[in-house]
Amino acid sequence: MRRRKKSKSENAAAEKPPNKSAGTKSLAGKRLTNAQRSAYFSRREAAKVLRTVLQGDSRRLAVASIKSLVYGPSVRNKRATYALVCETLKHLSIIKDVLGASNVLTGKWKRQEELMYIVTYDILFGQEDALVGDAEKFLLLRKVALQSALARLLVRRGVKKVNELITPHDSQKCRYVRVNTLKMDVDSALIELMKQYKVVKDDMIPDLLVCPPGTDLHDHPFVKTGIVFLQGKASSMVAASLGPKPGWEVIDACAAPGNKTVHLAALMNGKGKVIACELDKGRFKYLKHTVELAGATNVHVMHDDFLNLSPEDPLYSKVRAILLDPSCSGSGTALDRLDHLLPSSANAGTHDALDMDRLQKLANFQKKALEHALRFPAVERIVYSTCSIHQIENEDVISSLLPFATSCGFELEMVLPQWPHRGLPVVAGSEKLLRTDPVKDKEGFFIAMFARAGKEDHSVKSQMEGNTSSRPRRTRRRSNLFFKMFRTMRYAKLYSAKKR
Ligand SMILES: C[S@@+](CC[C@H](N)C(=O)[O-])C[C@H]1O[C@@H](n2cnc3c(N)ncnc32)[C@H](O)[C@@H]1O
Repeated sequence: MRRRKKSKSENAAAEKPPNKSAGTKSLAGKRLTNAQRSAYFSRREAAKVLRTVLQGDSRRLAVASIKSLVYGPSVRNKRATYALVCETLKHLSIIKDVLGASNVLTGKWKRQEELMYIVTYDILFGQEDALVGDAEKFLLLRKVALQSALARLLVRRGVKKVNELITPHDSQKCRYVRVNTLKMDVDSALIELMKQYKVVKDDMIPDLLVCPPGTDLHDHPFVKTGIVFLQGKASSMVAASLGPKPGWEVIDACAAPGNKTVHLAALMNGKGKVIACELDKGRFKYLKHTVELAGATNVHVMHDDFLNLSPEDPLYSKVRAILLDPSCSGSGTALDRLDHLLPSSANAGTHDALDMDRLQKLANFQKKALEHALRFPAVERIVYSTCSIHQIENEDVISSLLPFATSCGFELEMVLPQWPHRGLPVVAGSEKLLRTDPVKDKEGFFIAMFARAGKEDHSVKSQMEGNTSSRPRRTRRRSNLFFKMFRTMRYAKLYSAKKR
């Protein structure tokens, strides 16, 4: 694709970053402190994230969450950038109002409106002392106009303080830390973290630790070196449900940023192979970074469309499990994604035609991907998961594929039986499906599992210990053999019917 040529004025508006040469840190000849320099870059990085988020929101596209954009490898000053994006979003309607009423933005700066929002936030509510840069200079010269527009807004709305214009949101959510057992065992990580934080083991997922709400581990050396991953409970349930054994070959069909990929690798003790497939180029880089960080040497990353992986290809003839966590609306993690801060949340609860169209398109892809997964001949388990609360992306996908799955020898398998919240009763076997509750559990996930080749013990304990079944080995081997013959015959029949 050809790049659009920048107009003269856009080029003029593009700023030169501060130099850092021979020990001199300067911007337009002025010496900068480290704080000024780092604040300058944070504002530009925050503006870039804000642009992606706002553009996605206006088109109702499922872009990555603010957290995943900020905590990706390309952002340097992650904590400051994240705080700046969130605070600017919280104040966005006020900032827009103030900028509109004061009429300070000329054409040149209007084209960098996200940077203008960020700088305005810092001038009115943030850290004014570190304001260096052309955009900052431009708005600082208009500070009085901005302040009086804000004062008029408060009078108009009949409030005394800005805080009264912001809707509070309670996100008292426990923080979860998944121990990467490829690098450290759970007990050692727990002992080490307990020196600084209140941490306990999760009651269900053996490699998961729980911290109180508000615990911030982003800058902890364990996080930076991949000893632990900041991964929620529901997200950690997915690979644990699949329960791959060491030595297996497994496909992670839609893998980036790779949290579940490296969880699979850890559950397999680094033995066997995880084929992690990702379509998006930018997210593929992120996936590679996660895999490297985790030290997951048994992961083979692929930049490809999962639908292009042929089930007949001998490369995949030994694949025994597939984790399918396809693109979804992300509606179950809206609180985590801070969607309530986005402009479109004003219409929350109403589904317009655009939303329905988008959900339908997502569901069409989800069905296609699940059908594709069901076609791999040696696969015994498939876990399908979303972070959506919508039936159309969850139970409806399962229900529409159930007849095909049955014809391939699959059955719905109970996912984590000890979990109380099950699927919506709109499909046969809904009690085997798992949902987490966006209010009670603070995130809405959905997990379904298909299994074939006899009854296996899918309790998490057994999955984590690498047991296969409680039945005697010989019986198991025999029934597996019988099933494999049956499945091959059935599959050949099905495939030739399809080709015809
Ligand atoms: C929900 S995210 C996966 C999150 C990931 N499982 C994790 O836990 O870190 C879905 C991913 O699937 C990718 N994707 C979408 N369509 C795909 C396709 N046809 N083949 C492979 N990847 C695809 C998206 O780019 C996105 O990165």
